[in-house]
Amino acid sequence: MEKIIDENKQGEFLTLDAKEGNTKKLFIESYGCAMNFSDSEIVASILANEGYNTTQHLEDADLVLVNTCSIRDKAEQTVRKRLEKYNAVKKINPKMKVGVLGCMAERLKSKFLEEEKIVDLVVGPDAYKDLPNLLNDVDEGRDAINVILSKEETYGDISPVRLLSNGVTAFVSITRGCDNMCTFCVVPFTRGRERSRDPQSILEEVNDLWNKGFKEITLLGQNVDSYLWYGGGLKKDFDKASDIQKATAVSFANLLELCAKAQPKMRIRFSTSNPQDMTMDVVKTMAKYQNICNYIHLPVQSGSNRILKEMNRQHTREEYFELIDNIKQIIPDCAISQDMIVGFPTETEEDHQDTLSLMNHVKYDFGYMFAYSERPGTMAERKMEDDVPHETKKRRLAEIVALQQEHSHYRTKQFLGQVVEVLIEKPSKKSDAHWSGRNQQSTVTVFPKENYKVGDFVNVKVTDCTSATLIGEAIGYSENN
Ligand code: SAH
Ligand code: F3S
Repeated sequence: MEKIIDENKQGEFLTLDAKEGNTKKLFIESYGCAMNFSDSEIVASILANEGYNTTQHLEDADLVLVNTCSIRDKAEQTVRKRLEKYNAVKKINPKMKVGVLGCMAERLKSKFLEEEKIVDLVVGPDAYKDLPNLLNDVDEGRDAINVILSKEETYGDISPVRLLSNGVTAFVSITRGCDNMCTFCVVPFTRGRERSRDPQSILEEVNDLWNKGFKEITLLGQNVDSYLWYGGGLKKDFDKASDIQKATAVSFANLLELCAKAQPKMRIRFSTSNPQDMTMDVVKTMAKYQNICNYIHLPVQSGSNRILKEMNRQHTREEYFELIDNIKQIIPDCAISQDMIVGFPTETEEDHQDTLSLMNHVKYDFGYMFAYSERPGTMAERKMEDDVPHETKKRRLAEIVALQQEHSHYRTKQFLGQVVEVLIEKPSKKSDAHWSGRNQQSTVTVFPKENYKVGDFVNVKVTDCTSATLIGEAIGYSENN
């Protein structure tokens, strides 16, 4: 593998692993969650062995793949728009093949081939190893589709090609699928049952990343806290495991510790935590290792107990507060972020007020907020009417977004005058004279470049802030450097 350094429009560096001798060009783009971005790196790796190197130019591509998201209707509409664009390009370059990957492929299956004439192949999230065969089918004029969900596939044996990388931060996938069955969520249908990846292959990937100069990893899963390795197989079959398998099983807290010890200077993050599965063991492990970042993405979705129950979330607001109190007791400066949904079926004004009061209680560092979007096949779609008017959803969303902005500002102000450790990731979007990175709590921090470079750990004195960004000056390398 030869390393090619390219430059994109913003002047950031992209490091692409290109395989010598490969002549075909793959244009791959991803929508949706970090897992999709991570999966695209696996796909690029599989196709590198089939003669494809990636290109940044759609017009040059022999093969175009779009890794899709089904989480909300809008995400699907975005992909449909992209297909129109590919169609226009295909008119100029008729040999170009187009494939749909990911959650929309899984949800719509062969319908895609019927609905969108431009699509040549449809591949679900567990079937990427079948891509070489499917491409053969396309060449021979057959329908190319594989949307079979797997009980074992974790792609643990595939070393991802790092796409669009800053060379400093990387995702490492640790679980696939989700067993939680939140009633609004399409993920359990599109990504299948939950299974964990062999810790050995995770550690190998972490070590390899460190050797390549990466300084921060994010362990990824729909529900990382329920990671459980007992030799392979579905999480739900753990009960049937042998006594030896049970005794030697690796939990998420164990895995975190293994990673933290394997590379003591590598920053370690993880996402996403479901409150019902988060244990104090994980929090204690975070506290024990300085290189595990003090930040937890802890989606709650609603502040109303009645709505939480309708959503099939397995905890109450009181239990959630207790969890946060316990986290803050062990790690006082732990940042916490949320995902929130407004306008879930039957949500009343009182329920909405409960969400606002929960937010006032927690004062999240940041958050990702959405209006409920009904997803075909989910329990909520089958059993409940999408009865909150669009205008009401919009207004409630605006209210929680505004409140979150206040809280974010409250949190960033706490850093004023303090020294924070920042890992430099890229030039600041607003000023080329400044670096941009994040502190342990994942707050974006910008400061004058001086002689520092991407990948350095720097101590930054915070002198100013907005609700989303800390602004400061470097006072030297941190001891982690
Ligand atoms: N555990 C996952 C959650 C996936 S979906 C993870 O790794 O992030 C991300 C967020 O999208 C959810 O937390 C939820 O807030 C939101 N979401 C999911 N389904 C939705 C729907 N039908 N309508 C609106 N928002 C939704
Ligand atoms: Fe979706 Fe709930 Fe799993 S939000 S991904 S079903 S934890």
